[in-house]
Amino acid sequence: MPARIGVIGAGTFGINHLRAFRQLGYTGEAELVALAEVNDATRKSRLDEFPIRGYADYQEMLRCENLDAVSIATPDHLHRDIAIACARAGKHVLVEKPLDVTVAGCQAMIEAAKDSGVLLQVDFHKRYDPEHEQVQLAVQAGELGEILYGYAHMEDRIEVPLDWFPRWAGNSSPVWFLGVHFFDLVRWILGCNARRVFAVGQRGHLRSLGVDTLDAVQTHVEFACGAEVCFQTSWILPRRFEAVVNQGLRLVGTKGLWEVDTQNRGAQSCIDPQGMRTWNNSFLRERKDPMGRTHFRGYGADSIEDFARNVNFLLEGGCLDQLQGQHATGEDGLEVTKIAVAAHKSLTTGQPVDLDSLSD
Ligand SMILES: NC(=O)c1ccc[n+]([C@@H]2O[C@H](COP(=O)([O-])OP(=O)(O)OC[C@H]3O[C@@H](n4cnc5c(N)ncnc54)[C@H](O)[C@@H]3O)[C@@H](O)[C@H]2O)c1
Repeated sequence: MPARIGVIGAGTFGINHLRAFRQLGYTGEAELVALAEVNDATRKSRLDEFPIRGYADYQEMLRCENLDAVSIATPDHLHRDIAIACARAGKHVLVEKPLDVTVAGCQAMIEAAKDSGVLLQVDFHKRYDPEHEQVQLAVQAGELGEILYGYAHMEDRIEVPLDWFPRWAGNSSPVWFLGVHFFDLVRWILGCNARRVFAVGQRGHLRSLGVDTLDAVQTHVEFACGAEVCFQTSWILPRRFEAVVNQGLRLVGTKGLWEVDTQNRGAQSCIDPQGMRTWNNSFLRERKDPMGRTHFRGYGADSIEDFARNVNFLLEGGCLDQLQGQHATGEDGLEVTKIAVAAHKSLTTGQPVDLDSLSD
């Protein structure tokens, strides 16, 4: 029997979870059973597209549906309690990034999953980008030698905090929304944790437009292997920028360097009235199967599908300890949250922060 899955939070990104599990149903690898969404209008519009059962209250979904697993795509600060309740109900759990916005919250989520013997996976999909997979293989094979330093940037157009989720952008930041992606990616590529963080940032532009959050943050991370990596994040790019996201990575080692422009991958269009556009078709691209059903391919779907396959492995008798692969665990989520928490602490104090010193 394939994994029976429910999605909690069906907003802007939750739809990608619904799509990924629905298409696994076409191949018998998962069953998208139900969704829970508190917003009546959003729930109704999703149920129009996905003919499954819908709930306003995720607890009711847990009680009424015989689920093996859930995926959680609620706002960042609302992951924790839902994940803990689902784990305690014996469901395997996929959580959108970041795992939680506090270190203590991540630890509680990990404990709850351990106590119930369920999988806790975090949707850090940058690991599934084919360009990043190649960097990770090269670095892990020692082809670049010892990594000395690097640089990553991830920037969104200003419509993301202003139009996409103005209700909770004030509870988030460029670090929480964007930085965590690349913190996890670089940890995974290097195969080691961060030990020290220093950050500076800018605030004022978005505040003047009615959303009180940081405009940009530059986070300098020292990793345990000695590599020093700077992460530049912002969400104030102009609306006319050629893509919603601008992102890239550069790592330099004693034997070589690797650079990835993951925004402009070579595909461009120019159509009035949008003007110039670049396309990251590695993320999500749409295609029809011979039965006319829509599928979404790309690393944005791969990471979610990977969760369902991990759940199937467990349902077929596999053990959590045997789960090998790319997926980010609860512990990975915790290490990433430590970096983000340290970055915000450093922004406040103006001092570098040792990750060992974090108590929250
Ligand atoms: N992996 C990525 O690239 C990526 C991109 C965007 C967002 N995200 C993450 O996905 C999550 C959701 O972001 P979003 O942009 O979709 O936000 P959103 O505000 O568009 O959607 C969140 C949805 O959760 C619903 N919700 C809130 N509390 C709920 C509850 N208790 N039960 C059921 N539904 C509830 C809201 O009504 C809303 O529809 C965030 O953690 C965000 O950081 C990830």
